Amino acid sequence: MGDARRGVARLLRRATARRVEVDSDARMARRSAPPIPVDQRGRGGDSPPAMNDRFLRACRREPVDRTPVWFMRQAGRYMPEYRALRAKHSMLELCRTPELALEVTLQPIKRLSVDAAILFADILLPLEPMGAPFEFAAGEGPVIHTPIRSRAQIDALRVCDPHEGLGYVMESLKLIRRELDGKVPLIGFAGAPFTLASYLIEGGRSAHFVETKTLMYREPDAWNALMEKLSTVVSRYLVAQVGAGAQCLQLFDSWVGALSPDDYRTYVMPHVARILRDATATGVPVIHFGTGTATLLELQRDAGGTVIGVDWRTPMDDARRRLGDGVALQGNLDPVTLFAPFEVVERAARDVLRRMEGAPGHVFNLGHGILPGTPVETVQRLADLVHEASERR
Ligand code: CP3
Repeated sequence: MGDARRGVARLLRRATARRVEVDSDARMARRSAPPIPVDQRGRGGDSPPAMNDRFLRACRREPVDRTPVWFMRQAGRYMPEYRALRAKHSMLELCRTPELALEVTLQPIKRLSVDAAILFADILLPLEPMGAPFEFAAGEGPVIHTPIRSRAQIDALRVCDPHEGLGYVMESLKLIRRELDGKVPLIGFAGAPFTLASYLIEGGRSAHFVETKTLMYREPDAWNALMEKLSTVVSRYLVAQVGAGAQCLQLFDSWVGALSPDDYRTYVMPHVARILRDATATGVPVIHFGTGTATLLELQRDAGGTVIGVDWRTPMDDARRRLGDGVALQGNLDPVTLFAPFEVVERAARDVLRRMEGAPGHVFNLGHGILPGTPVETVQRLADLVHEASERR
């Protein structure tokens, strides 16, 4: 057996050992107490708070000592330790092996002073148990083996139970939650139905969403049937993640900015609203995120969520004025800024903070995920800068 294979075997053995421990933990928990006490779900309670709860406090628009910060895609190819693990395992192997998902989730926590961990997984994972397998092809991104474009294919999609088809995600969450031990809260997530449908229908990434919108306009009944199925799966999946230990949820509607406000209202909003209603009913804060959403922000707020994720095209103070003080905001430095000299990053980050000064409920983040090739040191310095520059004395 080569070194790499031996390494995999060792990791998988460790993963199996862990899984057994988690299973017996779960059995113990069922016998003695509910698996997740309410106070640990980020709702407050009598027990001592998590060691660092400024992220959850900001989500709830409560006062904080410093502005919390985390980064979308904080685990990923920009980090050498992630690339080292990816040299040995495929992306799907990392997602499906709880021990490996744990390791990747913790990589940014060890390196950056971020205030939240995000489960390592991918928004596309539910597609496989629904009956639409895919792969991450090198250089191409996701490839759905058989794109879904007809009513018959939509009818054949399974509304899977998250505990069956996605049980490994729940195992990862339990493991991560235990390892974090209250250090920072854990965010779970899922893709929103428009964004998921765009991958299902186009078969991969898309510039103009021609096939997706064609189905939407030409066959609204088939479109609604697809949205219903995706929404049911996503909604159950998010609720199950809270049951497994997620203390916050983020709904990624990354490509919804391709729609006009009217089309969003007609074809997407009712479905997203249903998911967000179920997700917020668990009691944890829910972040509702999209990009290219300058014309959609009010509709997204009305669809639901505790926090609205703002991309970098809308200044934060504009978003705050438009959305009022009933929701917290997350954002919104342009991820490409991180390729600039640090003075430029610093100026831009301070500008984001200034635009939110005095407003409760700001979670600092980028306007979209960290890109491959981003200098790690810049990300580290940015997290520290956000804390220093926002310290309330
Ligand atoms: O944020 C995190 O650290 C958690 C992990 C995470 C990943 N994907 C890991 C990943 C999260 C939250 C996602 C969400 C996701 N996945 C979205 C929504 C957020 C966004 O960026 O808009 C979308 C659209 C996807 C679908 C997806 N997955 C694409 C388009 C790609 C290929 C693009 C790319 O960066 O290669 C992926 C693969 C993927 N998901 C990687 C990672 C770390 C890269 C895989 C690799 O190592 O090769």
